[in-house]
Amino acid sequence: MARKRIGIDALRRKKERGEKITMLTAYDFPSAQLLDELEIDTILVGDSLGNVVLGYKDTVPVTMDEMIHHTRAVRRGVETAMLIGDMPFGSFQLGPETAIANGVRFMKEAGADAVKLEGGGPMVEVVDRLTKAGVPVVGHLGLTPQTAGMLGGYRVQGETADKAKVLQDDALALQQAGAFMIVLECVPEVVATKVTQALAIPTIGIGAGPGCDGQVLVFHDLLGIRSGFTPKFVKKYAQLETIMHEAISAYRDEVKSGAFPAPEHCFPMASKELDKLY
Ligand code: KIV
Repeated sequence: MARKRIGIDALRRKKERGEKITMLTAYDFPSAQLLDELEIDTILVGDSLGNVVLGYKDTVPVTMDEMIHHTRAVRRGVETAMLIGDMPFGSFQLGPETAIANGVRFMKEAGADAVKLEGGGPMVEVVDRLTKAGVPVVGHLGLTPQTAGMLGGYRVQGETADKAKVLQDDALALQQAGAFMIVLECVPEVVATKVTQALAIPTIGIGAGPGCDGQVLVFHDLLGIRSGFTPKFVKKYAQLETIMHEAISAYRDEVKSGAFPAPEHCFPMASKELDKLY
C-alpha cells in the first residue's frame, strides 16, 4: 500500500501520541531515496551541506543556488517524507521580503515542503511573514551554527537559568509566529524537555536529549563517513569510512596489479565476428 506523505498535521499528531519523529539530513538523490524507503519522517537538506559535502570550513558561505541545486536532487528521491530546505546565511536576515522570495524559491524551484531558519528574537517577524505568505517554517534555536561566532563558538546554549528562559520565550514566540516545528541544538537536556513540554508544536533535538519530540543527525555522522572531530551528541551507527577506505584501496591495488577487471567484467565477441576481424 502506498504510504501517505507526511504533513504538518501528521507530525503534530505524533507529538500528541508521544510517538517520536525521525529526521535526517540528505544532500543528494541516492541518500534521499534510501531515507525515504526506510520511512524516515522528515528529510532536511541542511546547510551543513557546506562543511559536510562542499568542503567549506563552516555553513556561512553556502548560497541559495547551492541549496536549491541539492534540494532539487533530494526532491527527486523523496515520495513520502516531509522535505525541508535549510535557509542559508544571508537568505533571510535581510528582512521579510528577501526571506519570502527565498522561501518561495525553495518551494517552487526545489519542491521543498517547508523551510528551516536559525534564530529567535528578530527572526520571529520573519517567520511570521513567511508563514503568512504560505511558506511553512521550522525554527532552529540553541546553537545556531550560522552565528556560532556570536554565541562564543560551537558550545552548549541555554546553560544558565536566564538563558534557558530566553530560549523558551523564543520558542513560544516562534510558535506564535506560525513555526510548525523547532529544532533545538546543543541545549541541556532539562531545558529542551521543558521547552518541548511548553510547546504545542513538535521539537526536534540534536544534542538536546531524549525529551524532544524527535531527533535529527547528519547523514554522514550517523554512518561514520567523516573522520575528524565528532561532537559528543553524535552516535555513529556504522563506520563506513573504514569500509570505503578498504574498498578503494583494494580497487587501486587490483587496477595496478591487473587483477581488475577479471574475465567476468569483460564483454566477449562472437567467434565468427572475431574471425572476420583478425
Ligand atoms: O544544517 C543542518 O544539518 C542542521 C541540522 C543538523 C539541524 O541544521
